[in-house]
Amino acid sequence: MNNDLQNRYPGIADLRARARRRIPHFSWEYLDSGTGLEHCIDRNVSALQDIKLMPHMMQGSQPLDLATELFGVTYNAPFGMAPVGLTGLMWPGIETMLASTAARYRIPYCLSTVATETPEAIGAQANGMGWFQLYPPRDPAMRRDLLSRAKEAGMTTLVITADTTTQSRRERQKRAEVSVPPKRTLKTYWRAAIKPAWSMATLSHGLPRFRTLEKYVDSTDMAEIGAYMNANMGPMDWSYLEETRKEWDGPILVKGILRKEDARQCISCGADGVVVSNHGGRQFDGAPAPIEVLPAIADELGNDGVIVFDSGVRTGLDICRALALGAQFVLLGRAFVFGAAALGQQGSDHVADLLIADLESNLGNLGCNDLKRLSEHLMP
Ligand SMILES: Cc1cc2nc3c(=O)[nH]c(=O)nc-3n(C[C@H](O)[C@H](O)[C@H](O)COP(=O)(O)O)c2cc1C
Repeated sequence: MNNDLQNRYPGIADLRARARRRIPHFSWEYLDSGTGLEHCIDRNVSALQDIKLMPHMMQGSQPLDLATELFGVTYNAPFGMAPVGLTGLMWPGIETMLASTAARYRIPYCLSTVATETPEAIGAQANGMGWFQLYPPRDPAMRRDLLSRAKEAGMTTLVITADTTTQSRRERQKRAEVSVPPKRTLKTYWRAAIKPAWSMATLSHGLPRFRTLEKYVDSTDMAEIGAYMNANMGPMDWSYLEETRKEWDGPILVKGILRKEDARQCISCGADGVVVSNHGGRQFDGAPAPIEVLPAIADELGNDGVIVFDSGVRTGLDICRALALGAQFVLLGRAFVFGAAALGQQGSDHVADLLIADLESNLGNLGCNDLKRLSEHLMP
């Protein structure tokens, strides 16, 4: 752990502030924004903050182990990196940084279908810690090809995203003129020029591209690929999940589940678990915070399926809250990107350090040395 960084950037909010200063306005708005009036983003954070945990005193000193097993793999901590698309817009080469953090800390990194790097490039770097997120292509041949590429690249877990049934209206992104590819206007050039470190990195790395999908559209043009995706990917139904189950011989998580009945149906259709998530408030502003619906889903699934949680997690304490309410694992989307956009590789490593330190501190103060017993600290 780097003590200097711990003092200069003691929380994710410090990395968020530095990332905002370092990247162009259009990149920032793409990363940080939600949908509509952004009530859902606020709810994700405030609903987590409302969960109180009761400390247990006089427990003596006990060894603490954060290692968590999921689908036969032991991760060093109960959290990992959620899929984030268009990643290279936030910082060129960011997927390599995230994969390298994953490998070093032995925590998972889920590569998005619409990341700017391919599973072939990232799988080996993640060194067994890679997961792959699928936006469902309607063409079964394309789906099979994507799955076999992810498998060959060493991705262990498939995450199928269910909650992007249609494009979401993101008002902040419209105001900031976020577009794919970035518009070649004076305003865009100006916004890039006043962030010289980002611009230099982009010049040497090249503009972001949807590299994984280029093969299917036979083009490197982002607008063409974007149009292809809108016409040819999602939304899926239960039979789609059953079909995909037959084509992937590893664990499957369905991401974006908020109803307990949907969670049950995912398991009935062959999924191994769900990611209880509202896409970080980016799709439907009226959605409940995932932490509000987590207990009902945990109750419904019992031991029948794994529950992963995301949306609004910013601290180790938030991770404790989600585990206490029934999740087995937690993902963070924006936090790791804030870190890498703020400080490069050491920034994404620093996010892992911060979360581990905060987990250890909060577990110690709770008098809990076993992640599986966090539910005993819930308020009656
Ligand atoms: C910039 C950005 C891009 C995202 N892209 C994807 C994506 O390609 N696929 C996906 O399933 N989820 C995507 N998500 C949602 C995340 O996987 C995750 O659910 C969300 O970020 C969790 O909320 P948090 O950012 O508050 O941690 C994206 C989120 C952000 C912020």
